[in-house]
Amino acid sequence: MVSQLEFVMIKPDGVKRRLIGEIISRFEKRGLNIIAMKMVRISRETAEKLYEEHKGKSFFEDLISYITSGPVVCMVIEGDEAVSVIRKMIGATDPKEALPGTIRGDFALSKAENVIHASDSPEKAKKEMSLFFEETELQLNTQTV
Ligand code: TYD
Ligand code: MG
Repeated sequence: MVSQLEFVMIKPDGVKRRLIGEIISRFEKRGLNIIAMKMVRISRETAEKLYEEHKGKSFFEDLISYITSGPVVCMVIEGDEAVSVIRKMIGATDPKEALPGTIRGDFALSKAENVIHASDSPEKAKKEMSLFFEETELQLNTQTV
């Protein structure tokens, strides 16, 4: 058992399309623990930090405009191997490649607007959750299922 924390964010298209409940439900049913959650409007500054690895790429400006275009729902989720489990649950970046049964495979309409973000490593998860949550907000809930 390797407990990990993963940072997850429902993107503006996921919120607009009323998929918040559906997505949260999938994580809960999978036995993962949501330990922190908030809806925010991301600033340009935070968006650039979240996606700094993509700075300079052709899609970067569109990505920043899109991710700041409406509210997002940020979560920290705990569970056994949570990072790889959740990355599998969200599916491939491009919905044409995302398998049915994954969140993107079931709901994403395009590569740019693909419903959900999840950090790709435990180190990135730690860094990305710190953009949205204070240390004290992550100590609230250690429920076990
Ligand atoms: P990336 O980190 O490669 O994907 P993932 O979200 O699966 O970790 O890219 C970050 C986001 O940038 C991606 O979710 C959508 C957007 N993006 C594009 O719009 N076009 C692209 O060609 C790529 C690779 C990403
Ligand atoms: Mg990524």
